[in-house]
Amino acid sequence: MMKRTHHCNELSTADLNSEVVLAGWVQRRRDHGGLIFVDLRDREGVTQVVFSPEVDNDVHQQAHVIRNEFVLCVRGKVDRRPEGMVNPKLKTGEIEILVSELEISNKAKTPPFVIEEKTEVSENIRLRYRYLDLRRSALQKNFILRHRAATLIRDYLNNNGFVDVETPVLTRSTPEGARDYLVPSRVNPGTFYALPQSPQIFKQLLMIGGIDRYYQIVKCFRDEDLRADRQPEFTQIDIEMSFVDEDDIMTMSEGMLGALFKKLLDISIKRPFRRLTYQEATDRYGLDKPDLRFDLELKDVSDIVASSQFKLFADCVKKGGRVKAVNAKGCINFSRKEIDDLTGFVAVYRAKGLAWIKIKPDEWQSPIAKFFSDTEKQALAERLHVEPGDLIFFVADDIKVVNEALGQLRNHLGHKLKLVDKNRFEFCWITHFPLLEYDEEEKRNVALHHPFTAPFPEEVDLLEKDPLAVRSRAYDMVLNGTEIGGGSIRIHQRKLQERVFKALNIDRETYEHKFGFLLEALEYGAPPHGGIAFGFDRLVMILCNEESIRDVIAFPKTQKAACLLTGAPEEVDMAQLKELSLKTRTVKGSEN
Ligand code: AMO
Ligand code: AMP
Repeated sequence: MMKRTHHCNELSTADLNSEVVLAGWVQRRRDHGGLIFVDLRDREGVTQVVFSPEVDNDVHQQAHVIRNEFVLCVRGKVDRRPEGMVNPKLKTGEIEILVSELEISNKAKTPPFVIEEKTEVSENIRLRYRYLDLRRSALQKNFILRHRAATLIRDYLNNNGFVDVETPVLTRSTPEGARDYLVPSRVNPGTFYALPQSPQIFKQLLMIGGIDRYYQIVKCFRDEDLRADRQPEFTQIDIEMSFVDEDDIMTMSEGMLGALFKKLLDISIKRPFRRLTYQEATDRYGLDKPDLRFDLELKDVSDIVASSQFKLFADCVKKGGRVKAVNAKGCINFSRKEIDDLTGFVAVYRAKGLAWIKIKPDEWQSPIAKFFSDTEKQALAERLHVEPGDLIFFVADDIKVVNEALGQLRNHLGHKLKLVDKNRFEFCWITHFPLLEYDEEEKRNVALHHPFTAPFPEEVDLLEKDPLAVRSRAYDMVLNGTEIGGGSIRIHQRKLQERVFKALNIDRETYEHKFGFLLEALEYGAPPHGGIAFGFDRLVMILCNEESIRDVIAFPKTQKAACLLTGAPEEVDMAQLKELSLKTRTVKGSEN
């Protein structure tokens, strides 16, 4: 076997006349009269190799069978490309290899799509043949960057006194607001492990165990509805620290991201990051993960429209709802169809309509302008800083719907109007989240972060009186409108943890059963502690300038949580089920 001497990106005119051995895949083969040209590709790049009858007739004959994606090993001499054949776009574009020995290590079937940097082929085909997709330089770049990011993060944490500790994968349920993936236990019939939604409880136990500073780059499993930035298994950079408050964790996290961006992209990010309370973020941007690369702030106009003749708005405010507006600057030329499309867009977020006003120099054009008095118009004009050419959008509803609909509309407009600078990285922290929120589906209060998050001490007394008014010591890190991390200061006293369980309507029997081991541990000298977890896939997605985390996960799953390459998940046979003491309604080769 020939041994490779160089990668396909390495050779240049400095290597002229030296004998080299390259190995890789055939990117392209061109037959030019007597000569056969092959672009040979490996992880690092592409080099042109030439088969000429003048160099070796047998080898040239052999080369006729070569097709795309064949695996080759070639020995040859580095030669200068003839004038006019130089490819300035290619790192190796000034040279070629005159092949004197060829080894076809393997043939390849015609691939279902051409392996190129950019591809138009459907994602399902790419996932079905992921090993071919992975040969594309765009994906290879992503995985090399992902690896470097993980290395830099480990370096930073290792240098700052953190200890990498592994936590179990077969475990008890760890609540993070999703459904669990369950694993049946064969030796304990009828019982199940849950795969961790996060290592949350274990990292707290590690703090109680005196580890002081922990990290782990770790897989988490959540059975939830999937989107472009969600996978059923994903990776967290999971961190926990003892004897700290919010500032310590934020400063450490900012340091970590600062080092990462500097070393990976040579970008100096501005520190400390901006901090917005949950209230301020949702007031101004509608969402608790605002994209701060552009303005388009939402304005509450409820007070102005409350007594107007537009009944829809006035009634909404009377019933305790809100009316908010966003000024789409300079968008007066939006067509009827565009406005209808935007109305459809906000309907997805449950808005019942999207009222609008076009600001012309001498009049306001709108189906609803006639309902407003001059004073009301004046007040709206001031609140929304209107100028001729602007287009104002309004949503009236309960505050949750208004914020969600207009917040999403704001993001949508930001992209539509090209206000988003793709080269900017706008970080912020969101703080002072509500501890609990009312879940319409479950008809009870649920933890906004998770049940182990500490409330602010000065608001603890509201836990029993007005639980929804209590705010938590949780914080999210948001980058360009994506939540890339979240954490909190934890409850480290049993009494308070029990009060929070009660505020969540979890009765003593249930919490003793589910979390008794944690409550007990809190009684044996639990230090004050807190932490954070970053969504590593999401972070890498942004670093790679990708739109989907599937492009930074080697073997991702589809929206239906399936792996198109291996065919998982799969039915199992009766014998296997029996061994696990399980029965399913649909079993291969069985009626029940
Ligand atoms: P949280 O649930 O906010 O916190 O998760 C932390 C971060 O993980 C990422 N993330 C996901 N990424 C891809 N696919 C998913 N399905 C997915 N779900 C979450 C997000 C998120 O910000 N134990 C706590 C952290 C703590 O309190 O320290 C936790 O898991 O970027
Ligand atoms: P209508 O009187 O139903 O024709 O509505 C007049 C305008 O108000 C239309 O442009 C609707 O899209 C808009 N509209 C209806 N419901 C709402 C709402 N809840 N919030 C904002 N605008 C609305």
